[in-house]
Amino acid sequence: MPGIVLVGAQWGDEGKGKITDLIAHDFDFVVRYQGGNNAGHTVIADGKRLALHLIPSGIMYPNVTPVIGNGCVIDPRVLIDEMDMLEREGISTERLLISGNAHLIMPYHLDLDGASELLLGKNEIGTTRRGIGPAYQDKAARVGIRVQDLLDPAIFKLKLETVLVEKNRLLERLYDLPTYTADDICAQYLTYAARIVPHIADVSTLLNDALRANRGVLFEGAQGTLLDIDHGSYPFVTSSSCTAGGATVGTGVGPVAINKVLGIAKAYLTRVGSGPFPTELFDETGETLAKIGGEVGTTTGRSRRCGWYDAVVVRYAAIINGLTDLCVTKLDVLSALDNIKVCVAYDYADKLYGTVPETQTAFHHATPRYEELPGWKCDISGCRRFEELPAAARDYIAFIEKLADVPVSMIAVGPSREQTIMRGWRL
Ligand code: IMP
Repeated sequence: MPGIVLVGAQWGDEGKGKITDLIAHDFDFVVRYQGGNNAGHTVIADGKRLALHLIPSGIMYPNVTPVIGNGCVIDPRVLIDEMDMLEREGISTERLLISGNAHLIMPYHLDLDGASELLLGKNEIGTTRRGIGPAYQDKAARVGIRVQDLLDPAIFKLKLETVLVEKNRLLERLYDLPTYTADDICAQYLTYAARIVPHIADVSTLLNDALRANRGVLFEGAQGTLLDIDHGSYPFVTSSSCTAGGATVGTGVGPVAINKVLGIAKAYLTRVGSGPFPTELFDETGETLAKIGGEVGTTTGRSRRCGWYDAVVVRYAAIINGLTDLCVTKLDVLSALDNIKVCVAYDYADKLYGTVPETQTAFHHATPRYEELPGWKCDISGCRRFEELPAAARDYIAFIEKLADVPVSMIAVGPSREQTIMRGWRL
């Protein structure tokens, strides 16, 4: 059994949750390797829609061990709420394993996320305000508090007192916000500890042993390639490594353990938050995509910006992640359109770009070059085999495949698990 990474090939919200949920039962472990509760996966179980932000979708299957790796940041209150919600739905969370090296999101991270966005004013990133950026900042600054610190209340308090010296000054003097005492946070976090500590595990050893024993491990990426801290549309990115490479750093397995990299791309394009988006639509078509596609964020409830499929972005994602397979989601949303545009290249300053420009300025000002394809104008949500799709929809997929230079081995035509066309996908 292989190690497979599933990544978003655009700006997040590609429908990764549905695909993870679809293939998870074939694996022994489903592992989150970066991000925190800025992610939002909607899974449909027994006709019920469940929103997961932190816990891997593999939790839905009793044969799967869900794992949160060291590359993640964890808001313990959110984690416990999510565990409680799942338990109420009759889904056991006992199997959940958490790396002791994952970092904790602390109350001041939430304050600082909101406050620094306010300070940025019109240059704001448009974060989810879940404290993600400030938690990763502290990790890099080596003043972060980790899950394993919950094991020792004295150490936890000592680290907290140390970091609060700086945080309280920042909160009070720069942002005019209330400060914290170590005692208050300790009281709150040590109650969380009772729930979290039983789930702490040596994730890296466990996964390496599993892979050596030929057991299946699915590394579930959150956000998307263009939100990656290194390879995304910086600074309008999240603070973690969403790309396939993040799976190795974020769990402690070597790159040769990864056999396949499955990229998920929506049949059109959306993004939330600020930053470049060359194919963004500000017209009726954009509104149609938003409406039919239900383009509202699972985590923040914000409306998503909508635009045409950008083959430049997906080609870039194919290269950066080393995609071996592509899954195109929400193809059914395009069924209402007479004609469908695909961005095949960008123009900027007398230069033609076939991949994402290397400078922020060029990306911001890139003008898309489009090719127009005919729509199919019929309901495809009941199609289960590629041959059942109308010719125009098959041509659209073939075009995407050619431009990405990666086989499209899965196509989603609706939100439920069954509404998926398998086209050569194998583990
Ligand atoms: P942060 O991750 O909350 O710091 O937000 C940074 C940027 O990433 C913002 O533009 C967010 O809208 C975006 N972002 C974070 N998580 C997601 C996601 O799961 N889907 C789409 N965009 C996201």
